[in-house]
Amino acid sequence: MAKQVLILEGSMRTKGNTALLAESFGRGAEAAGHTVTELFLNQLQIHDCLGCAACRSHPGTCVQKDDMTSVFQAMMEADVIVLASPVYFYTWTSLIKRTLDRTFAIEPVLSNKTFYLISTCAADQESYAKTMKDSYEQYVGCFEQNCRSGGILIGCNMRTAGEIEHTDDLQQAYQMGMQL
Ligand SMILES: Cc1cc2nc3c(=O)[nH]c(=O)nc-3n(C[C@H](O)[C@H](O)[C@H](O)COP(=O)(O)O)c2cc1C
Repeated sequence: MAKQVLILEGSMRTKGNTALLAESFGRGAEAAGHTVTELFLNQLQIHDCLGCAACRSHPGTCVQKDDMTSVFQAMMEADVIVLASPVYFYTWTSLIKRTLDRTFAIEPVLSNKTFYLISTCAADQESYAKTMKDSYEQYVGCFEQNCRSGGILIGCNMRTAGEIEHTDDLQQAYQMGMQL
């Protein structure tokens, strides 16, 4: 069955390694007949969560009316949500973390989603991305209504933007997208 795939791109480098890896995942998904939407978070106006907890009285809504409104809608409509972020100091970029914090508003109402983590890092071993992976697993675990992780892909040894094109990581991402 054709699925709606949403990629939340959390790198500031729109032609960087993480974006290329996520795009390859998206191309694989499209080749398998799925529909892919990619949102570059650095092009959206997304404010920090205020911590006001007003969303706890009105699940699914946030008092702040910025571009998160359309991100919420895209997440609610998606079957598959890809969180794409390079490793910054062992974890998410602040750009995507800010976005994830805002999803506190839809935590009680988001259902039937499969999440993926797509990331890149300079370290030569995935073990250096443990904090990122743990945070991702714990984040997905917060959504109790039939949400799960579909997988994690981390490209190691990445520094210069575009460097990932010389690796087989892109092929791995493509295959992952194809197998949704
Ligand atoms: C502010 C900053 C912090 C970083 N922290 C880490 C880190 O903790 N561990 C690591 O392996 N790489 C780290 N890196 C390297 C990036 O994760 C890596 O180069 C990645 O491929 C960049 O992704 P991009 O091309 O999508 O921007 C850091 C890079 C920057 C700019």
